[in-house]
Amino acid sequence: MTGSGYGLISDAAIAIQDASVAWVGPRSNLPAEYADFSRRGLDGRLVTPGLIDCHTHIVHGGNRAREFEMRLEGASYEEIARAGGGRAGGGIVSTVSATREASEETLLKTALSRADALIAEGVTTIEVKSGYGLDRDTELKMLRVARAIAAQRPVRVLTSFLGAHAKPKEMDADTYIDTICLPTLQEAHAEGLVDAVDGFCEGIAFSPDQIARVFDKAVELGLPVKLHAEQLSNIGGTALAARYGALSADHVEYATETDAEALAQAGTVAVLLPGAYYAINETQAPPVDAFRKCGVPMAVGTDWNPGSSPLGSLLLAMNMSCTLFGLTPVEALAGTTRNAARALGLSDVGTIAPGQRADLAVWNAADPAELSYGIGINPLYSRIVAGREAP
Ligand code: NIG
Ligand code: FE
Repeated sequence: MTGSGYGLISDAAIAIQDASVAWVGPRSNLPAEYADFSRRGLDGRLVTPGLIDCHTHIVHGGNRAREFEMRLEGASYEEIARAGGGRAGGGIVSTVSATREASEETLLKTALSRADALIAEGVTTIEVKSGYGLDRDTELKMLRVARAIAAQRPVRVLTSFLGAHAKPKEMDADTYIDTICLPTLQEAHAEGLVDAVDGFCEGIAFSPDQIARVFDKAVELGLPVKLHAEQLSNIGGTALAARYGALSADHVEYATETDAEALAQAGTVAVLLPGAYYAINETQAPPVDAFRKCGVPMAVGTDWNPGSSPLGSLLLAMNMSCTLFGLTPVEALAGTTRNAARALGLSDVGTIAPGQRADLAVWNAADPAELSYGIGINPLYSRIVAGREAP
């Protein structure tokens, strides 16, 4: 699909009233009621919905450069994770140690600099996960830091509680779920820190039965769910996510056509994360054709995290989704706008239409395909967040 799939209007006008889009269409059709609005010409620049990064772990301590070196020396992501890490080693648990040790102030400072990199590329909504605490205090600390990003920057932040991210070293997985993960979720929710509940369903993390217990709690609390599923193997995470009517199933490299049918039936978005696929040398690409055939909406995110995806560019994620997974630039843009909004349960962003929140990105580009085509090129001209020009 090319060109027309974008719904592009040439020589368009967008009327913005307060924080919302009041009207959009060809400039020559602009209704008279908007004639006395103050005007801002954009010299024919491309305007898209503000981009949405629907999957990040930008609140974390430390980095995993050593793990990168280990992978270059031949170790796989899974082997490193199973070896259990420790500071010098690697794996999610090494980031857990670094995040537990980091002060809230340091975590916020580093998270803000990551948020700034996304914002500089036209991002207006960022999803941020916990999951590097695996104890009550650090999980709550991560979520507070995520909320603080939105207080300090013109960007919307949605939080996902990812207590079931990795098995902590101190106890077995079932004890962890019952004594730490579920009570912390309840507490974080009571403090208004949780927009959705996530998990990592994988041989190196939690089983479908264990994730189901976390999802049952989410249902009890009235929170939507999403899941890291079928990233390294197929153990039934995608089917589980569909059964719970999840907002999204993320990674999904090892999902099958049957999984795709289940996602389509549930209306669950498949979130594709080419940064992780690339960084851990994965060779199995997600079943994009099956997603298309079944009508599964596809979103694209950075998965920005220190281990499997140290990728700080949503535009590069779009490019990679095309070159590595075969998405069209039309699908890549839908993946960071309309479908990314859906993966977060948002209906007021991701499109430009009357009544929508006026979150927009203005580009030094004429053709929307340019956003996916460039590699390390940032054509952003400006952003508008909730109707206001935003730095
Ligand atoms: O989305 N898959 C699980 N979690 C992260 C990786 C976290 C890490 O390696 O630190 C991901 O890829
Ligand atoms: Fe992730």
